[in-house]
Amino acid sequence: MYNYKNNFLLEGKTKKLYKTDNINEIIIHYKDIITSFDGDKTQSLNQKGIINNQISAIIFHLLNSCGIKTHFIRIINNREQLCHKLDLFTLEFVIRNIVFGSMSKRLGIKEGIYIQNPIFEIFYKNDILKDPFINHHHAVFLKIISYEELNIINKISLEINKIIKKFFFDKNIILVDLKLEFGKNHKKEIVLADEISPDTCRIWDKTTKQKLDKDCFRKGYSNEKIINTYMKVLNKIDK
Ligand code: TMP
Ligand code: ASP
Repeated sequence: MYNYKNNFLLEGKTKKLYKTDNINEIIIHYKDIITSFDGDKTQSLNQKGIINNQISAIIFHLLNSCGIKTHFIRIINNREQLCHKLDLFTLEFVIRNIVFGSMSKRLGIKEGIYIQNPIFEIFYKNDILKDPFINHHHAVFLKIISYEELNIINKISLEINKIIKKFFFDKNIILVDLKLEFGKNHKKEIVLADEISPDTCRIWDKTTKQKLDKDCFRKGYSNEKIINTYMKVLNKIDK
């Protein structure tokens, strides 16, 4: 394992970051913590960090190979990956292919309705405010981002959604929605950050419609059932 003594940078709910000898690169360590409802529900799920590190690495590798700029460089060991260091926008971008979760509640629409033109949403990343849903104007007013950057991110997000939707579909998985985060690198380019895993998207088995994501945790399934579900995703895509 990477010797990170004295190199600790910061710790979030589900990850830890470490410095490297290169100021433009960091090491991201995947913890076993799983949270939902903006951290209200938190617990440790044995092996989750190992599985998500691998799932996210597979997806980011795919995106890199499709020409999408991402922070991912390479996996280092079972819990850690080397990534480009970014200055993150304090925003979360959600792309929806099927109505579910907060969109269904907010608009009073039944869950499960197919969306022909994927919907792009913005959330303000702020634990105290519980990550509120905002629009472009709020994000610019808050001085987090410019209209031009939002347009670029909107375009890249839809492209990423298309790539991952097809990738999963070929593995008999439906991509319902996904959450993306972006930042800027030292050259001020917009780059995809964070992770893409069952923690950050909704995915269903195409045949059985079984939920293969963090909704299992939100619904209170047993730890064993959740970890088996995440493992199932890894096995399906790691081929
Ligand atoms: P939502 O329906 O709760 O808004 O979630 C939409 C998608 O975004 C779903 O796949 C879960 C993901 N998500 C996160 O990864 N982190 C978050 O903080 C939120 C609110 C959603
Ligand atoms: N708010 C998010 C969820 O409900 C995640 C989190 O709390 O970290 O999944």
